Amino acid sequence: MNATPDRYTVIGNPIAHSKSPEIHARFAAQTGQNLVYERILAPLDGFERTVQDLIREGVRGSNVTVPFKLEAYALADSLTERAKAAGAVNTLSFENGAITGDNTDGIGLVNDIVRNAGVVLAGRKVLLLGAGGAVRGVLLPILEQHPAELVIANRTVEKADELAAQFAGHGSVSSSGFASLKQPFDIIINGTSASLADDLPPLDPAIFGNASFAYDMMYGKAPTVFMRFAQKHGARARDGLGMLVEQAAESFRIWRGVLPDTAPVYADLRAKLQAE
Ligand code: ATR
Repeated sequence: MNATPDRYTVIGNPIAHSKSPEIHARFAAQTGQNLVYERILAPLDGFERTVQDLIREGVRGSNVTVPFKLEAYALADSLTERAKAAGAVNTLSFENGAITGDNTDGIGLVNDIVRNAGVVLAGRKVLLLGAGGAVRGVLLPILEQHPAELVIANRTVEKADELAAQFAGHGSVSSSGFASLKQPFDIIINGTSASLADDLPPLDPAIFGNASFAYDMMYGKAPTVFMRFAQKHGARARDGLGMLVEQAAESFRIWRGVLPDTAPVYADLRAKLQAE
């Protein structure tokens, strides 16, 4: 006897290329969870209506992606600490008529760096490039790893200043422009959207040492321009595919109470990406 599967969705616009349904289907098969997970294209002016419709249909939870993470934050009845810090929500849970908002992007990034890449953040000098939504979304979980120092560098320095001030209570955070960065960092994370345009922030190669680890929150078939630059100057580099899988795993854990094994799912996605 098969019970009706619980429904989950990912909401975005555009949404056709989202890999989340594939990832969650793999997690469900692996852990024996009875659920279905679908893509939902919400009209640009219809996010809230779409969520309310899904709740009425009995959907249990939704991931939220571009451009609705701020609207999801505003819509949630209650928010986790990390969602409040991120100012954005990527995971909604619908229970007893209430909407809870969480953000798993930061813990996804941290787990990919610490567990999968084997790079310790505690006690290290960390540089975060960018000061937009992507960076704000990951700041609290990174600071909770207790880096010795976290520098936020951005093209528009004022935005980095604001973020550093906002997170000052959570650790040693400072802000900077790109031009004054001339010392090596242990870990350099690119959270700018420059890679999308095949562009690179104007970085001095001196920020990379031979033991540096460079991480691009973007991913693609080939290494990003940031990764190639970092590698050319002696750093080890990794893209954000693992972050995608890890943030999904954390959403899955929130909804189902089980943490899936991400390694085989990551390996399959990587192989598919390479074959595209
Ligand atoms: P996201 O949600 O992806 O973070 P965003 O909030 O628009 O998007 O932020 C984009 C980030 O990438 C910003 O930090 C932006 O710098 P500015 O604040 O100075 O605009 C950064 N960015 C985008 N293109 C860039 C480029 N070519 N070089 C350097 N930084 C870039």
